[in-house]
Amino acid sequence: MREHCSGVPREEGGVRPRHFLDLDAFSGDFLRGLVAEARRMKAARQGLPKGAPDPDAPLDGHMLLMIFQKASTRTRISFEMAMRQLGGAASDLAGDRLQLGRGETIADTARVLSAYGDAILLRTYRHADLLEMARHAGVPVINALTDHSHPCQILADMLTIEERLGPIAGRPLAYVGDGNNVTHSLIHAATRFGFPLRIATPEGRAPDPGVVAAAREEGAEIQLTQNPREAVADAIAVYTDTWVSMGQEGDVDDLSVFAPYRVDEALMAAVDRQAIFLHCLPAHRGQEVSDAVMDGPQSAVWAQAENRLHAQKAILRWCLGVTPRAVVP
Ligand code: CP
Ligand code: NVA
Repeated sequence: MREHCSGVPREEGGVRPRHFLDLDAFSGDFLRGLVAEARRMKAARQGLPKGAPDPDAPLDGHMLLMIFQKASTRTRISFEMAMRQLGGAASDLAGDRLQLGRGETIADTARVLSAYGDAILLRTYRHADLLEMARHAGVPVINALTDHSHPCQILADMLTIEERLGPIAGRPLAYVGDGNNVTHSLIHAATRFGFPLRIATPEGRAPDPGVVAAAREEGAEIQLTQNPREAVADAIAVYTDTWVSMGQEGDVDDLSVFAPYRVDEALMAAVDRQAIFLHCLPAHRGQEVSDAVMDGPQSAVWAQAENRLHAQKAILRWCLGVTPRAVVP
């Protein structure tokens, strides 16, 4: 049986909480199961007001405690709505007002929050801090984005791609721009969902070589190039993200190195007309993507944002024990 997050030990003789920390910690079957569950739940609540509970809302009384040490619109609100639709509640702990910011340790914070909430959602800088929280929490910890990865986003994106284009296995996806947390989770997804991933980044901005090497060792087809046209040539979807991730302001002196990686009409003209454009958002219009592409017929960005809600409900159901543990890899 695999650990479902590298670096977090299974408790001796105890039942470890169902953390959701990175996609590569799970099997492809498990992740496809989450996507299928998200699709089923999305269909089941068609026509209901956004704040109404799901027809089957199994999390009565459950509380999600959310810590955001970086800004968030989609992740914060979609998790709050996800808990509400599942019959539970979420509380935004205002990360900057916690004693964590005055030196209380992550371990002690994890222990205390585990006494109050049924799960903890953490958006932070250092991935090691997320793992530390998971190591000491008695309840599930969910990765809401670190400098290393963004698994909830990419699980939702698998739902969006498959809704629009059918199964992704074996069909190339292109990522163009900065090699970052979103890229790393895409690499994890390529490994588990079985699709070739073509990544075009400027010199010095490629994704973490360790993440790429681990994926290749598991048989994933990860192509790295500095040529965006080469990356998108046979892609069914073109994905980009901000050139400057939160917390990395100052890492790149001259943003002009990214200019050839802007996803604009010229780049999309090199792609099949059926291909879709993806962006996790927030977008910096005029930088990594042109208005015409963002607002054009190939753009699936609003579906991506909506699907965060549905995918995260599948994640929460598993973390909080509604979905049987048996589906764990
Ligand atoms: N895509 C995403 O995670 O958006 P937020 O930063 O608004 O949560
Ligand atoms: N790579 C971006 C993603 C934001 C959702 C960042 O970390 O800022």
